[in-house]
Amino acid sequence: MEIIANLQYKVIDAKKTYEVRHPVLRKNLPLSSCYMELDDDVSTIHLGGFIKKKMVAVLSILINPKYSNYQTPNAQVRGMAVLNKYQGKGIGINMFTEAEKKINKHRINLIWLNARIDAVDFYKKCGFSIIGKKFRLEYGGEHFKMIKKL
Ligand SMILES: CC(C)(COP(=O)(O)OP(=O)(O)OC[C@H]1O[C@@H](n2cnc3c(N)ncnc32)[C@H](O)[C@@H]1OP(=O)(O)O)[C@@H](O)C(=O)NCCC(=O)NCCS
Repeated sequence: MEIIANLQYKVIDAKKTYEVRHPVLRKNLPLSSCYMELDDDVSTIHLGGFIKKKMVAVLSILINPKYSNYQTPNAQVRGMAVLNKYQGKGIGINMFTEAEKKINKHRINLIWLNARIDAVDFYKKCGFSIIGKKFRLEYGGEHFKMIKKL
């Protein structure tokens, strides 16, 4: 697909993610709601997907976040979003593969995330399984924890 051929990834800073987080994940909320815990941690990696100069997708990778309950080396993926106009074109799955390349360098055994209900099937396609019961988060309503063992 031409759109995927033109997709390029860059490591970006935390604030830059807001350009996609805000319209997709925090619509009609103050810009400050885009902040996520550990955004500025030195081990957090923010990835932007660009088509030419336009950033169309973001995700953040947290390596062994301090609030994680896992004993094994783990990474959390947060703030995954593709601009509405660009959804359903293969960008999300492509960006996830790129994220896994970054995660692999850290000898991680497990990737986990909190999936919005609407995104559960997408994450299944990325190789994740649901673990535990549904729960509610401040933003995005009900979620499932999903994990992928590497
Ligand atoms: C969820 C999201 C990141 C997926 O990115 P995307 O670029 O739209 O997804 P892709 O086009 O790469 O889809 C890959 C596959 O997953 C499927 N898929 C994507 N989104 C889906 C969804 N919401 N429900 C079911 N299947 C979905 C696609 O049909 C495709 O399947 P196929 O390979 O069989 O054709 C994106 O739609 C998005 O930003 N959604 C709104 C924000 C959101 O929910 N973020 C997740 C927060 S936890």
